[in-house]
Amino acid sequence: MFSSLSMLTSTMEDNIVNHIVTLYQGGDWRGIVKTCHDHPGRNRVLWVFPSEENFRFLGDCVRSLGCDRVFSVGCGSGLLEWMIIQATDLPVTGLEVDGAWWHCKYAPPTFIPLLFTPPTLEKDTIDLLNNTTTALLFCYFNNRPAFEEYLKYFSGNVLIIIGPGDGKGVHTDPKPFGDVGDDWKLYKFEEVRNSYDFIAVYCKNK
Ligand SMILES: C[S@@+](CC[C@H](N)C(=O)[O-])C[C@H]1O[C@@H](n2cnc3c(N)ncnc32)[C@H](O)[C@@H]1O
Repeated sequence: MFSSLSMLTSTMEDNIVNHIVTLYQGGDWRGIVKTCHDHPGRNRVLWVFPSEENFRFLGDCVRSLGCDRVFSVGCGSGLLEWMIIQATDLPVTGLEVDGAWWHCKYAPPTFIPLLFTPPTLEKDTIDLLNNTTTALLFCYFNNRPAFEEYLKYFSGNVLIIIGPGDGKGVHTDPKPFGDVGDDWKLYKFEEVRNSYDFIAVYCKNK
């Protein structure tokens, strides 16, 4: 019973991954937005599936705060980042840790070329963080010490945190409305559909 249930779950996950890859190959980000947000296997490739309105909100915030690019840390498969590029026309760079896992045969597919970092930041990453027109994004990030290290080197003015609000029963660190430090103030936020996940946009206190 247990093994047939886990086989069913993995088949459902394979189906949604194949479905997403097919839409991705056809450039159909709207198809992904419309058809994947409720699928039980969706977290294999991405934790949040924003709506078209959410992408518009994100792009408008980034541009109205004077940024022209997004740097996403802990981007996972890069599906969110690819959809941001398609939906907003902003360039997005995605960074991950543990290159070995992302190249192994059990890893999920990737949707943008990933950049990799060792757990301790090196010059290439520090250079990317040293750009005043970059918005720094963390989606469902869960590594507080690393988050603080990235912020230490970030010279931009816009920080975006996507993650679960209180009541969702999922833990991330940082949270969208958790403690991001005195340097940052909340600019705007929007719920991702009716999911209890939130896009929180912060700007630097001058
Ligand atoms: C819960 S996953 C979220 C992935 C993706 N952003 C999403 O929403 O689906 C958190 C990701 O952060 C990455 N991560 C953890 N520590 C990191 C670090 N120091 N630098 C970059 N990425 C890191 C993990 O490898 C993992 O893929």
